[in-house]
Amino acid sequence: MQRRERKVIVIGAGSVGTTYIYALMHTGLAGEIVLIDTDRRRVEGEIMDLSHGLPFIPPVTVRAGDYSDCADANLIVVTAGAKQASSQSRTELIQSNAKIISSIAEQIRKYDTDAVLVMVTNPVDALTQLALERLGWPRQRVIGSGTVLDSARFRYMLSQHCGIDARNVHAYVLGEHGDSEVVAWSMTHIAGAPIGERCAICKRCDWTKEHKRIADRVRDSAYHIIDYKGSTYYAIGLSLVRISGTILRNEHSVLTVSLLLQGEYNIEHVCLSVPCVVGDTGVEQIITTPLSAGEQAALKSSAQAIHRVLDSIKP
Ligand SMILES: NC(=O)c1ccc[n+]([C@@H]2O[C@H](COP(=O)([O-])OP(=O)(O)OC[C@H]3O[C@@H](n4cnc5c(N)ncnc54)[C@H](O)[C@@H]3O)[C@@H](O)[C@H]2O)c1
Repeated sequence: MQRRERKVIVIGAGSVGTTYIYALMHTGLAGEIVLIDTDRRRVEGEIMDLSHGLPFIPPVTVRAGDYSDCADANLIVVTAGAKQASSQSRTELIQSNAKIISSIAEQIRKYDTDAVLVMVTNPVDALTQLALERLGWPRQRVIGSGTVLDSARFRYMLSQHCGIDARNVHAYVLGEHGDSEVVAWSMTHIAGAPIGERCAICKRCDWTKEHKRIADRVRDSAYHIIDYKGSTYYAIGLSLVRISGTILRNEHSVLTVSLLLQGEYNIEHVCLSVPCVVGDTGVEQIITTPLSAGEQAALKSSAQAIHRVLDSIKP
């Protein structure tokens, strides 16, 4: 089937799916956005509400659809499923969301598509792997939003701490999008300098204390937001726009998406986040920068944590 021009399918019309569409519509990146959800009334309502703003933004078609729309899509973004309740970890969602993602993957695989699928539903790493197994597509085309959001939180918090624009902070969170995630200090650069060198010159804080405080705040952000307002959707919506941009415009940007590792970083048979070059065919390259011994060990234990989640849904 011939591809439509920049056609994006969003499965899941909840807070994350619709916030993503709202943000994507403003960018002019997509020519057509199709929304699918088991709750048809909700889809109709969301489409009406979103479409009534079209006179104010670049032209884009936004409509309700079904799985046959996947056949000529460029990008399929899956946000369907249960979300965390207050004090619940992402991994506790696995039983209910594994069933939802399995049924969605069964529907998509009926269509011969060469789209890139981006999993967002939590626990995102285990569910990316489940979708990959059910779809049987190449690993580079089934990716998770992974720690793109966590890396953004890390960059934002460093930028606030150092008083430097977040766009001049290059930093990555690796591993699980969850409690075992790994803040990669060895890859962190501020205004071109490795963070250690920057701190040695700056000396405005006691970095040995700040180090841990920032990493803890990055890891626990979602818990705080869910505690205060029930769920998170704005920053993940913008993270998804960033991932969509590099796919739809073939930008070759480096993003910490989740994908199946096959020996990279000495890790195998598990989906987790590492820096990847992402373009219109999905992951084009995995960046294997050497980590410190502590970070490498933490990444291994993060992989083991995801394995345990996957084991819990084995028949
Ligand atoms: N990866 C991340 O960084 C990240 C960030 C925030 C939220 N999330 C996750 O995204 C997911 C969605 O969150 P939300 O706040 O939008 O939830 P929500 O409850 O607002 O929406 C979920 C939607 O999924 C739909 N749905 C359920 N089963 C379905 C199926 N089989 N097919 C199609 N649609 C179905 C529901 O009808 C509902 O509209 C959650 O799992 C949440 O934890 C991930």
